[in-house]
Amino acid sequence: MEIKELIQLALEARKKAYAPYSHFQVGAALLTASGKVYTGVNVENASFGATNCAERTAVFKAVSEGETAFEKIVIAGGKEEEEEPKAQIPPCGICLQVLSEFVDEPERFQVILAKSETDYGAYSLKELLPASFSL
Ligand code: THU
Repeated sequence: MEIKELIQLALEARKKAYAPYSHFQVGAALLTASGKVYTGVNVENASFGATNCAERTAVFKAVSEGETAFEKIVIAGGKEEEEEPKAQIPPCGICLQVLSEFVDEPERFQVILAKSETDYGAYSLKELLPASFSL
């Protein structure tokens, strides 16, 4: 799967974000080792702490379908009024920790922060989360 296609899926997903409180809409597209893609959006709640980020939504969808080996994730986020994201939005610390649970080689797992199909940055999970907690 080409990065361009994954970015398109994340941008499409972003339109389904449920963000009536922050008006900040995030879409994610997670590519699994088997080649499937799971998208996710942020799902907010009137009890703000119950909000789920787009990245975790995508991970939880994949894991609940039996997919636990991941290749890369594309994230696209920005204010509701922005048709295309104006900045690269890195995952929050909780989402990085959740991703790390399912990534054996964090230096190989790519996190793509996209503004458009052609404007994006590529980082490794290791770069964004040099150390993660494990039991
Ligand atoms: N958000 C995400 O979906 N992913 C991130 O990595 C950072 C933040 C969402 C959560 C909340 O709905 C909104 O963005 C503002 O924090």
